[in-house]
Amino acid sequence: MLETTFSIIKPDAVSRNLTGQIISRFEAQGLKVVASKMLQLTQAQAEGFYAEHKGRDFYEPLVAYMISGPIVVQVLAGENAIALNRQIMGATNPEKADMGTIRKDFALNMRENSVHGSDSPASAAREISYFFSQTELCLR
Ligand code: TYD
Ligand code: MG
Repeated sequence: MLETTFSIIKPDAVSRNLTGQIISRFEAQGLKVVASKMLQLTQAQAEGFYAEHKGRDFYEPLVAYMISGPIVVQVLAGENAIALNRQIMGATNPEKADMGTIRKDFALNMRENSVHGSDSPASAAREISYFFSQTELCLR
């Protein structure tokens, strides 16, 4: 099934000049970039994006980290894009991530873990629309 998913290249990766290497991994494994922009989140944008985690002990430091520098937000398209992107990313905790995944190879720690990817069709729809209008997606 052709799906779209939402991806963030997080501040730790953008600041270390890893954007191109990370996009290359998506492309090499069959995901196509169909929308892309660089931006720096406001506090309110970051809080809203991670609202599902509000109240968790890691929420406030996560928000502070996510606004600390520019990020690249993208929409990726492909067969089973949501699960495939999660597989390419690896586990949240880089110490537990599989060999060859982005987080295993690039993440600094559990918080500064280089990439975000939607975890379900519902979150993909919400997260894509949080940053992009439908007309910004180049799906043809
Ligand atoms: P989560 O949605 O659980 O992970 P994922 O990014 O793999 O979907 O958590 C969102 C982010 O919050 C995660 O990428 C890094 C941060 N985080 C922590 O800093 N500590 C934690 O214990 C957890 C669970 C997440
Ligand atoms: Mg998540």
